[in-house]
Amino acid sequence: MYSQKIQNLSESATIAISTLASELKAKGRDVLSFSAGEPDFDTPQVIKDEAIRALNSGFTKYTAVAGIPELREAICKKLKKDNNLSYTPKQILVSNGAKQSLFNIFQALINDGDEVIIPAPYWVTYPELATYSGGKPVFINTDENSNFKITAKQLKEAITSKTKILVLTTPSNPTGMVYTKAELTEIAQVLKDTKIWVVSDEMYEKLLYGVSFTSVASISDDMMKRTITVNGLSKAVAMTGWRMGYLASVDDKLVKLMDNLQSQCTSNINSITQKASVVALSGDADNDIEMMRDAFEKRRDLGCELINNIAGLSVQKPQGAFYLFINIKGVSRFGGDSMKFCSELLSQEGVALVPGSAFGMEGYVRFSFACSTEQITEGIKRIEKFVRG
Ligand SMILES: Cc1ncc(COP(=O)(O)O)c(C=O)c1O
Repeated sequence: MYSQKIQNLSESATIAISTLASELKAKGRDVLSFSAGEPDFDTPQVIKDEAIRALNSGFTKYTAVAGIPELREAICKKLKKDNNLSYTPKQILVSNGAKQSLFNIFQALINDGDEVIIPAPYWVTYPELATYSGGKPVFINTDENSNFKITAKQLKEAITSKTKILVLTTPSNPTGMVYTKAELTEIAQVLKDTKIWVVSDEMYEKLLYGVSFTSVASISDDMMKRTITVNGLSKAVAMTGWRMGYLASVDDKLVKLMDNLQSQCTSNINSITQKASVVALSGDADNDIEMMRDAFEKRRDLGCELINNIAGLSVQKPQGAFYLFINIKGVSRFGGDSMKFCSELLSQEGVALVPGSAFGMEGYVRFSFACSTEQITEGIKRIEKFVRG
């Protein structure tokens, strides 16, 4: 029979809903999907040009498992310039998207029964990875009063002798909230005399709206040592399909162990993506990145305004990423049941959202605004009709 481990693993709820929406569309239904966490923009041309050059020059062979030297150099430069973090190339491991970076980390650190603290609402993958690697997710629930961020006090209360990892996502998927330097400093204080690793998922770092960003590892030398910084190009540079993510840790041995793991399963990421990624990180695509960020900011403002005008719905303005985490508790006929809300909305109005239950929080639904303003306007018009009943 199949392994217990694999049978316990769930399909990603966001991918499941996007797939369902695509299937309905293929059957001829008029479906608007706001479920995928994927920019609607094309990859900037300078990056594509470099990929074509790499392909035509025959750069099509295996590379070092952790990535070509110039890519790891480029990542180090980026981390220094943008985040004030000093890593050496051998402290970088490039993987098939940040998803694989996270998989490597959990496999490398978790022993059976180790606890992984995950602030809720959370990105769907963390609890699955924690469980799959033998660990136990421990959730810290947040709410709108704390802008969906954990406090130092909550963290202190959640720590036990078995705590191995704290996961921090800033900006957050699904809420878009960003931790301030002061908040991270308080968290760092709680961790100071512990052996807890911090996994800092900074995937949405480039998508910020009027706030500044602090990398968790930059808070102190102690945080630099205990933090594994995770980032990638999927969201910021519209490169979801290229599969480029990376992790950085000053623990050379840990990085080598994860390199060993990757060498036994997927080896290096696509060689052409690696060359293109050097250009993506070089600054040559910065104007395109800013153009996309600016468009997302306008869409965020539009989406928030339209949603907050609907009786029964409300949303806190996200400070980053491209999601609205919409409070549906005021729509009394659902009693906060986010799955019921999403399935009826999809079948009645052809609008796909992700239920908050998938992110560990009932009473909310996630709306991705990584799509055109026309789609946002039309989708929210349908949501309003649906909510009115
Ligand atoms: C918070 C967060 N981390 C990591 C990822 C993984 O991104 P990728 O594997 O495309 O690099 C995602 C994608 O949805 C995400 O939302």
